Amino acid sequence: MSKLLICGAHRLEGRVPIYGAKNSALPILASTILCSGECVIHNCPILSDVDVSLKILEYLGAKIQKQNHDIIINAKNIDRYDIPEFLMRQMRSSIIFLGAIISRMKKAKVSFPGGCELGPRPIDLHLKALKQMGVTIEEHHGCIECHVEKKLKSQEISLSFPSVGATENIILSSVFVQGKTKIINAAREPEITDLINFLNKCGAKIFTTKEGSVVVEGVSKLTGTEHRIIPDRIAATTYMAAAAVTRGDILLEGICSRHLSAIFPVFEEMGVKTCVVKKQLRLWIENRPKCVKFVRTMPYPGFPTDAQAVIMALSAFCKGTSVFVENIFESRYKHVDELVRLGANVKVEGKTAIVRGRRSLQGTTVKSYDLRGAAAMVVAGLGAQGETCISNLNHLDRGYEDIEKNLKTIGALIKRVGKKN
Ligand code: UD1
Repeated sequence: MSKLLICGAHRLEGRVPIYGAKNSALPILASTILCSGECVIHNCPILSDVDVSLKILEYLGAKIQKQNHDIIINAKNIDRYDIPEFLMRQMRSSIIFLGAIISRMKKAKVSFPGGCELGPRPIDLHLKALKQMGVTIEEHHGCIECHVEKKLKSQEISLSFPSVGATENIILSSVFVQGKTKIINAAREPEITDLINFLNKCGAKIFTTKEGSVVVEGVSKLTGTEHRIIPDRIAATTYMAAAAVTRGDILLEGICSRHLSAIFPVFEEMGVKTCVVKKQLRLWIENRPKCVKFVRTMPYPGFPTDAQAVIMALSAFCKGTSVFVENIFESRYKHVDELVRLGANVKVEGKTAIVRGRRSLQGTTVKSYDLRGAAAMVVAGLGAQGETCISNLNHLDRGYEDIEKNLKTIGALIKRVGKKN
């Protein structure tokens, strides 16, 4: 098991590349099984979660060619409809394959997915929608078996919460369904738009309405296409927090500023300066950052839950008291105890966390319990005095390509000891 050692309180300065979004790449990779021709995916991040998706595709019978950030997938000969439990358990997003496999094979056999420990992460909305479309589902011993007796039916599906995964699964299971499938209260994250854009390039007919519904008009076939994954807005936010905590001056290359619209006001409130020119974002700060009054996580276009932990790590160093309200996941404060180990003053009560900023924190040994919590430890370690040692890096490697290399390039004293898993 590898560990990250960070010698903190060194100013970061320089350029950082932002790669493709993990949360976009994963559903797009799953959706390639619906395409009769070759798909060329550019800007695909090199991450363990992407590797798991490629292993699933290969297991199902797809041919994969990989060259750095470009992946070519040919799913013509897919002949399996099951995913082994050991692959399902490696990441929660493996559940996105369910909709795609049902769409292509009219049956599927998967187990309940694994993934981040963010409290209960049910898939009831996914399964309810599939049932409504005419899928027969049997659940036994952690296994989900699905089959379509006749044909899938186009439906008006109303989500009680705009779940990202459920929206993706419904889109994937309905692309070939005759008529119009309407998803009311669909998720609107940029990664959903990227999936829709990819599918439309392959010949799908999917559009969004002003009221926030997604409408899928069934087509008989999807071709292959070439597609570039959108930039990772959460990785961008993480580097922004890392630069701010060290009072640095960095240039992020390859961002989409529109996707960061809920992030900019938070940094502005903290006194961090930003300037965007095309796909480049410069960020700098001269004085100690100020607290941010409220950070309330919400579905897009609200403040993303995935950015809560890294902003909290930054707020631990800010002048004044910041308040966080986590509205998306029940158990997304596991990084708090670790921040406290570093000397942060954070109190949690239910969905709310109150952070009283301290001028400095002191490096120590900390653990990561989930992907973004791991990133928060990196941000805190970069800001803290002395050495911070972070363990459980398998979480970090699920979502951040080359993080230590990128941080080292801009002046961080960071090194990994031991081999990646
Ligand atoms: C996706 C993202 C994840 C992000 C989350 C919220 C990917 C690969 N992951 O996860 O990084 O944090 O969106 O933006 O894109 N829920 C139910 N029943 C369901 C489905 C969801 O109750 O059937 C609940 C969840 O427990 C959670 C909330 O809805 O509390 C949001 O979940 P959802 O939007 O589905 O997140 P994911 O798709 O798992």
